[in-house]
Parts: sequence; C-alpha cells; structure tokens
Amino acid sequence: MNPIILVVGARPNFMKIAPLYDELKSRELPVLLLHTGQHYDENMSKIFFDELEMPKPDVYLGVGSGTNAGQTARIMLDFEKVCNEKNPSMVIVAGDVNSTIACALVAAKLLIPVAHVEAGLRSFDMTMPEEINRILTDRISDLLFTPSSDADQNLANEGVNAENIKLVGNIMIDSLLNHSKKSEKSDIHNKLKISKGNYALITLHRPSNVDDENTFSGIMEALETIGKDIPIVFPAHPRTSKMINKFGFDSRIKQIPNFVVTEPLGYLDFLALVKHAKVVLTDSGGLQEETTALGIPCLTIRENTERPITVDQGTNTVVGNSTENIVKEWKNIVNTGGKKGRIPELWDGKTAERIGKAIVEYFDN
Ligand code: UD1
Repeated sequence: MNPIILVVGARPNFMKIAPLYDELKSRELPVLLLHTGQHYDENMSKIFFDELEMPKPDVYLGVGSGTNAGQTARIMLDFEKVCNEKNPSMVIVAGDVNSTIACALVAAKLLIPVAHVEAGLRSFDMTMPEEINRILTDRISDLLFTPSSDADQNLANEGVNAENIKLVGNIMIDSLLNHSKKSEKSDIHNKLKISKGNYALITLHRPSNVDDENTFSGIMEALETIGKDIPIVFPAHPRTSKMINKFGFDSRIKQIPNFVVTEPLGYLDFLALVKHAKVVLTDSGGLQEETTALGIPCLTIRENTERPITVDQGTNTVVGNSTENIVKEWKNIVNTGGKKGRIPELWDGKTAERIGKAIVEYFDN
C-alpha cells in the first residue's frame, strides 16, 4: 500500500494529528508525516512535536510566512512534487489553516482521496480566511470527519453525500486527555508567580482583533479594567507581539498591575494554565473547545463562532470585541462563577480510534 500522508502546518494542527499518527501506526498503516512549515518557530512548532511525542516529520516543506496567497501557493507547488513522487493512497488534512486547503486542493486535482479532520464547522463569516479554507476543503474531501452533529448538519445543508460524513468527535480532546496528567507537572504557575485558580488567561491573534489599532486598543482597555480585579497572563502569538510593538502598547501593558506577557508557550505549560484559570479570554478556535472540555469559563472575543456547541453545551460565551461587553461578561463571571457546561458527546478521547476504523473500512471497500 502507498503511504497515507498526514499533513501538519500550523500550531493548531499538531494536537489534532498527533493522536491520529499514533492510531494509524498502531494499525500498521504506512504513514508519512508532512510538515509544510507554515509555523516554524521553536515555540510555535518544534516544542509541540517534542511534547506530543511526534517523530520528526518525514517531509518538511519549510514554506514559512507570507501573504495568504503566497503561502498557499508555495505549499501547493511543493506539495504537488511530493505527491507525484510518493503517489500517496490518501492525504489527511486537519482544521482550517492555509496548509489544510493547499494540500487538499493539490491532492484532489491529482485524484488522490482526501480526508478532512474537523470537517463541517462554519462561522458563516466569509471575512475569515479560515471559513474560506473550511468550505473549500470540505467541498473536495472524500471523507469528512466531524466533531459534532452541528457540523453534520452544515454539510448536509451544503449537499455533501451523507455516506462521506463520519461523526467521530473531537480529536483535540484525545490530545488533551492524553496529556492532562503530564501537564500537572508543569511549574509554569511558579515561574509566572501566579496562583492556581486566580488569574485570567488571554490569547489573541486574529487579524480582525490585533491588526486594527482601534479594535486592539479597545480590547486593551477591557484588560486594563479586568487587570484591576485579577492577574492576567498573556502568551502572545508572534503576530500579536509585532502589533503590540507597532502600536506602542508596551507602555500600557507595563502599567497594568500583575499583567504578564510571555512568549508563546508549549502544549503542557499552556494546558496547565488553562486547567487552573478562573477565566480564559480568547479569539482562538481550539481554546473554545479545550475550555469546554475542562469546564473553565471562556469569553470568546469574536462576533461569531464556528463552534456553537461550546456555547450551547459548554462554558463558552461569545462576547464580541467591544470594551463594554468584555468587561460586562467578566463582571458576570466574578458575580456568578461563570457558565457551567457539560462535555459534548464523543469528546471522549477515542476520536482517533474511530477515524482509524473508518479509514480501514474505506480502504477495505
Ligand atoms: C494561522 C492560521 C489560524 C490559526 C493560527 C494559530 C491561517 C489562515 N491562519 O494564523 O487559523 O488560528 O495559525 O496560530 O492559516 N509567525 C512567526 N513564527 C511562526 C509563525 C508565524 O513569527 O512560527 C508570524 C509571522 O510574522 C507571520 C505571522 O506570524 O506572518 C502570521 O502567521 P500565519 O501562519 O500567516 O498565520 P497565523 O496568524 O499564525
């Protein structure tokens, strides 16, 4: 059998592919791990390979940063060569980043079957590059692995053949459960001089939040208010750090008491921080799910979410990016302790196993 190519590219891919890599290996399927190099910093990429115990990629494209088009195009050109050389029996992509659509598109045109992990999520916001990536990837995928039934419904509405849709649950939760115990050994709380249960954790990186000075300034204003109530930890994405410098927000940050800005953190330290946060404020997709799985209140600093199950069943509240709303919802958490959710069906740590089974069935047929 020709190899199955597992594609990773950006930080949110690593925790989705690691458990699937192990699963396919344990089924003795020929797997080839390919890293596009969309993310390339030690702390955006390598540390995740180490901590998630993934081997060094078999193929590294090293495409690096660029415009959406430039990055996507470079991945496509390089990935086409790999496909022509390796003639894979399947290409598996995950999530919604540029590496996802780039590799799916190349494979589909070479008539190589494409499987999409985390299919069917929709924010219905076409101003997000990720929404475009999701829709297009799903449209050309042969196997669509969905995390929740809302995703199945979205795909059905778009006319996707029901036979190709497999509700398997949320694979990120496999990684979370696999590493939860280990994360307890992290000494990140000591390092940052914060006490468990008494800090707000914030991450921001969406262009819509950090690239526009007024918007980012409004969010900073909310943090200035929240910072009076509770220490804040802010592991800053490279894009965000750049913007903090560009807009001269460093001096504002210094004036907020107990406001710790750190480099992007590894998987285990970050998981330890999420588990013991009083609240998480974020514009990330994955973090909305991780907080729901862990029962930690989450305020999503966006106008919409492609993960509505985290709001309907979990601990997530979509608050938008206005200063007033962010502060209002924070005060609400102070007064009520925050939303108590439940863990959605099939977020049980066995998603990789279900995907492995479905892939074997696909080849048997
Ligand atoms: C990408 C994904 C986004 C995901 C995010 C997680 C797309 C369209 N976006 O956004 O969905 O939520 O990853 O992090 O694919 N940079 C570095 N070092 C790195 C990587 C990036 O310094 O290792 C800097 C570069 O200046 C780069 C910028 O961050 O220009 C943005 O990186 P990019 O991969 O284009 O998009 P993200 O914002 O990370």
